[in-house]
Amino acid sequence: MHLPNYKEAKKREKMPYQTVDYQLNSSLKNKYQGKTYFLKTYGCQMNEHDSENIKAMLLELGFLEVESYEVADLILLNTCSIRENAHNKAFGMLGRVKHLKETRPNLIVGMCGCMAQEEGVVDEIRKKYQWLNFVFGTHNLYDFPNILDKAVEEKKQTIEVYSCDLDIVENTPVVRDRTYKAYVNIIYGCNKFCTYCIVPYTRGSERSRKREDVLKEIKDLMDSGYQEVTLLGQNVNAYGKDLYEDYGLGELLGDIAKMKVPRIRFVTSHPWDFTDRMIEVIGKYPNIMPSIHLPVQSGANCILKKMGRRYTKESYLELFDKLKKVRPGIAISTDIIVGFPGESEEDFKDTLDLVKYCKYDNAFTFIYSPRENTPAAKFLDNVSLTVKEERLYQLNEVVNQYFLENNKKLVGKYEKVLVEGRSPKKKDMYFGYTESNKLVNFTGDHISVGTIVEVKITDAKTWSLDGEFYG
Ligand code: SAH
Ligand code: SF4
Ligand code: F3S
Repeated sequence: MHLPNYKEAKKREKMPYQTVDYQLNSSLKNKYQGKTYFLKTYGCQMNEHDSENIKAMLLELGFLEVESYEVADLILLNTCSIRENAHNKAFGMLGRVKHLKETRPNLIVGMCGCMAQEEGVVDEIRKKYQWLNFVFGTHNLYDFPNILDKAVEEKKQTIEVYSCDLDIVENTPVVRDRTYKAYVNIIYGCNKFCTYCIVPYTRGSERSRKREDVLKEIKDLMDSGYQEVTLLGQNVNAYGKDLYEDYGLGELLGDIAKMKVPRIRFVTSHPWDFTDRMIEVIGKYPNIMPSIHLPVQSGANCILKKMGRRYTKESYLELFDKLKKVRPGIAISTDIIVGFPGESEEDFKDTLDLVKYCKYDNAFTFIYSPRENTPAAKFLDNVSLTVKEERLYQLNEVVNQYFLENNKKLVGKYEKVLVEGRSPKKKDMYFGYTESNKLVNFTGDHISVGTIVEVKITDAKTWSLDGEFYG
């Protein structure tokens, strides 16, 4: 048994990482043929992509996916720790699963992902969720088949969570959710330690994949007809710093752009590490999509300082302006936290002012949620929940107004859209995303999923556009 340990998780040692290849223990191949699984994924794109790896490992073991957890032989929750409500959702699901387990004792239940890396969560599981069969963390995802099998064979709770990052594992199998757009990890972990954030403890230190491994994965995706790749990392701007002297995200983006990948995206960029080289490359290659997620968190310098964000409102705006200038029509989205400990009315007003300047195309807004073991959890929090809720409401009113305003500017224009399928709400329409990452529902006939088409925009809503197929 290995339990998570925050002291270990905090260590950032300069160690060269080994790159090793994934290998399935051959005795496990198809061992579970005829069994079914239900996998529930919470959290960010990184978790979604991890789940694509988990699905492929389950397939190797012989499992088939089912849509309802009530009929599955195995239920696995891939969890997120970022805010309290992510926690509550996962524990709520465990509550529902417990009832099933009472009537079906052979049901296997497991938990993985970021919550598995939390000391407090694992303590609680050991005390109150003895019936949970296995837990594994983000650092030993590749070992999932062995952990599952051990839990089944030994018939006792199996907890295998490593606090430190181990090797980088290449060639983990993957079953992608889509056949036309794909996630590609370029860097794992985070070294930024923003004072509110749990990610550096749940995902370990920054480790880049070798450029040849990234480029090979993208080449294979292109050979299979993929139209879009999204490069993933908690802070993609730090790509390469741990491996190379003079090869970073700017160079990597340039190399991928030259491979003629139709659409390239990347998330998430921390404003602090955003280099001029990256800006130049974004300006140079039209297949790098004009849509950047640039989380600001707050518009008040004193709050940014307490958050440990390493930039000021002024330097953020300077970067923002450079991006707007280098690619006319570029869409910029953001993340904002309200109600950080000590946030005054004046500080909140600074955030509103910044939003009014940036007129974001999209924004994810959150009430600050204290996280176990993070520095901010110990800060004096004198802002009441009612005030925090009021600020979130006010902020949402303002950001929504700009989403609509920006969308309206596109009415009458022709936009390139990557077609994703029939619109879930309006079955007679298709849906897809523009280059600037805006959702479009549009009319048309016999349009192939995964193609890039031209759509005339006919109407604008706050969170989507309407259009008609043009060509
Ligand atoms: N690596 C990304 C952020 C990933 S987490 C970056 O630094 O930009 C996604 C978002 O969740 C963050 O940008 C932040 O706005 C929000 N978030 C993180 N921790 C939070 C917390 N403790 N409470 C509320 N929101 C939080
Ligand atoms: Fe969290 Fe900051 Fe790292 Fe983003 S950069 S994952 S907010 S610590
Ligand atoms: Fe959540 Fe972990 Fe992603 S905490 S946001 S799933 S890195």
